[in-house]
Amino acid sequence: MTENDAFWDFYWESHLQPMENLGKRAAILSVSALIRRLAEQTSQPLRLLELGCGEGQVIGTLLEAHLQVCSLPGSLGVDYNAQFLAQCRRDYSGLRCIEGDFTDPVLLDGLGKFDIVLLVNALHEVFSDCYSPELGQIDIPAAKLRVEQALAAAADRLEPGGWLVLFDGLEPAGDPLAMVRIRFRDHGVRQDFDTFVAEYQPLKITYRQVEGPLSVELPWRDFTRYITKSIFLGKRLWESERLQSYQYFKEGEYRAAFERRGLKIADLQTLTVNEEKWRNLVDIDTPGVSFPDEHILILAHRDDPNL
Ligand SMILES: C[S@@+](CC[C@H](N)C(=O)[O-])C[C@H]1O[C@@H](n2cnc3c(N)ncnc32)[C@H](O)[C@@H]1O
Repeated sequence: MTENDAFWDFYWESHLQPMENLGKRAAILSVSALIRRLAEQTSQPLRLLELGCGEGQVIGTLLEAHLQVCSLPGSLGVDYNAQFLAQCRRDYSGLRCIEGDFTDPVLLDGLGKFDIVLLVNALHEVFSDCYSPELGQIDIPAAKLRVEQALAAAADRLEPGGWLVLFDGLEPAGDPLAMVRIRFRDHGVRQDFDTFVAEYQPLKITYRQVEGPLSVELPWRDFTRYITKSIFLGKRLWESERLQSYQYFKEGEYRAAFERRGLKIADLQTLTVNEEKWRNLVDIDTPGVSFPDEHILILAHRDDPNL
C-alpha cells in the first residue's frame, strides 16, 4: 500500500461513516481509486457524468474529494426527479444538475463527452419503469431492451479511453424456477412475507406452504426478490421499493451488453452486503443453497484509438 492509498483509506473511512448504503460505498471507493489512477495519466481535469444522480451523494461526494483533479463545472448530474435534484443542489453547491430523462437520446446527445460516466442503482429503475398494467407485471423483453438502449446511450457519452462504472442489482446464477425451501424466524417475519407477496408489483410472487405456517417453498427468482426487498418492509421506502425489481440481468447478460457496446470490462465484482440482516429473518432449508450475491459492480472502458 502506498502512502497515498493509506491517506485515502483514512479519508473515506471518516467521510463515508454516515452513509448507510454499503453498496453505494463500494461504488464510491472504486471510482475514487479510478479517478486517482486516471489523474496520474493526464493533466486535464476529469469530467464526471452521473445518470440518475438522485440527491447527488455519489457524484457529489466524489467531486468533493477529488476537486484538485476533477472539473466541477465540467461535471454533471442528470435525474428526472425535481425534488431529489433540489436536495442535490442544496448539498453540493456548484455541481451542475439537469432535470430530465436519461433514456431520452436527444437530451443525452446535447450533454457532451465525459471521462467517467456513472450508473449507480439507476438502470434497475429503467427496467422497472416498463411495468405493463395489461400483463400485470414488467414487460421483461421490452424492459431489457430499454436497459440496453440506456446503457448504449450512456456509453456514447464517453470520451475515447473513458470509463463507464455501473453498480446495480444482479439476477443470480442458477435456474430461476428451481424451488427453495425457507423457514421464517418468527410469525412477524411471516407476516411481512405475506405483505411482500401481496404488494410487490414487478412480477407475481408465487409460493407453496409446507410444514406449518413458518415454512414455504418458492422459486429461486422470487426468493431473491423477497430477501432484497424484505429489509424495506415496514419502512417509508417500501412504497417506492415495492414498485421496482432490483434484478434484471445475470452476470452473463451484463458482460454481453457491455461487449456489444465495445466496452472492455477491467473489473467486475459481485457482492452481498445484507446477508447478516437476511440471516435474522430466514433460514434456508434446501441443502446446497445459500444467500445470493445481490449487487454487481463493473468498471469498463472504451478503447482510445490514438493509443
Ligand atoms: C436509487 S436512486 C440512485 C441515486 C444515486 N445514483 C445514488 O446512488 O445515490 C435512482 C435514481 O435514478 C433516477 N432515475 C431513474 N430512471 C431515470 C430516468 N430514466 N431518467 C432520469 N433519472 C432516472 C431516479 O429518479 C433516482 O433518483
